[in-house]
Amino acid sequence: MSLTPNNLFLKAIRNKPIERTPIWIMRQAGRYLPEYIELKNKAGGFIGLVKNPELACEITLQPLKRFSLDSAIVFSDILVIAEVLGIKLSFIENKGPVFDKTIRSEKDLNELNTNEYNVESLDYVFSTIKLLKRELDKEKPLIGFIGSPWTVATYIVEGNSSKKFTNIFEMLKKNPKLLHKILDMLTDINIQYLNKQILSGIDVAMIFDTWGGLLNDEDYKEFSLSYIKKIKDSLINSSIPLIYYIRETGEKIHILKNLDIDVLGIDSSTNIGIVKKQIGNKFALQGNLDVDVLNLDESKMREAVDDILMSYNSPSGHIFNLGSGITPNINPDKVKMLIDILADISPKYNVK
Ligand code: CP3
Repeated sequence: MSLTPNNLFLKAIRNKPIERTPIWIMRQAGRYLPEYIELKNKAGGFIGLVKNPELACEITLQPLKRFSLDSAIVFSDILVIAEVLGIKLSFIENKGPVFDKTIRSEKDLNELNTNEYNVESLDYVFSTIKLLKRELDKEKPLIGFIGSPWTVATYIVEGNSSKKFTNIFEMLKKNPKLLHKILDMLTDINIQYLNKQILSGIDVAMIFDTWGGLLNDEDYKEFSLSYIKKIKDSLINSSIPLIYYIRETGEKIHILKNLDIDVLGIDSSTNIGIVKKQIGNKFALQGNLDVDVLNLDESKMREAVDDILMSYNSPSGHIFNLGSGITPNINPDKVKMLIDILADISPKYNVK
């Protein structure tokens, strides 16, 4: 069932006038919530939650029960698609994702099941989406997502979230053909995966390209952006809104301003006003409060929120968010404080 066109989040995405700035928070269902920790312990860990549609649905709804957020996001991870290739994913406490295999050579690639991808093995995600569409308030949009092929490849080539990226950059320089083969494969899987999420009922699609900003301009176009365009062009429903998130947004804005997307998600290293000036009303912007502001007192938080709204300085096309995911050290009361502050001051910048 499609959502009412009056929904604030969807109006902001479409750059239509809004009376208040909508907000959701990256990683809004996560370790800063005690009810998340409790359910995760019961399920035996993060993967146990993700693979159980009833629990994944409950976890997705937890932050919406606590706070007035304007959207839900499916509880899963960008890395689950590795399992389609027969690479086992685990999450180690305080260490992050780890794979049981890496792809660093033609031989590694040939040993994988690359002839026939079957996204049916991600059925638990599609079941979670269908459950959520039943459980969610019918006015509340649901975001589905994938990782960009480049960003997912950084994890599959490195094997974990080592932030050094030595192996993938070595491959890029010494064997770009192999890297393109891997990216092509991840693109094909992601297209099938996102299309099935759309068929299952998501209202908005998001692509996380967290590590796209590590590439220089030419390499970014060749190894990340070309695949994003292919995904965009292969969506079964071309009217579904698309949000594209990349860190170091400011560095790439001269390229990003030409993208065919609905929303650009920006990180906190960039001033939102500068980005807004470059893109005009071409697409909406999402972001970009520094997560550390959630540790400040109310008056400092108010100043920081006001700074962003003032820099953005336009009555439409802004979706409030952090510049990165919320971290486990944040007190949930500070999230409520942020949402209240935004509801209080944003109408002044929007339509009367
Ligand atoms: O935003 C949401 O609430 C939706 C669910 C979601 C998760 N991960 C859940 C998660 C989404 C959209 C992601 C995206 C994701 N996953 C990205 C891109 C965005 C970003 O954060 O830059 C990346 C790079 C990953 C890979 C990943 N997943 C890492 C590196 C880690 C470990 C480090 C960390 O940030 O926790 C994860 C774990 C993860 N994904 C958790 C959650 C709630 C924490 C799991 C736990 O309870 O231990």
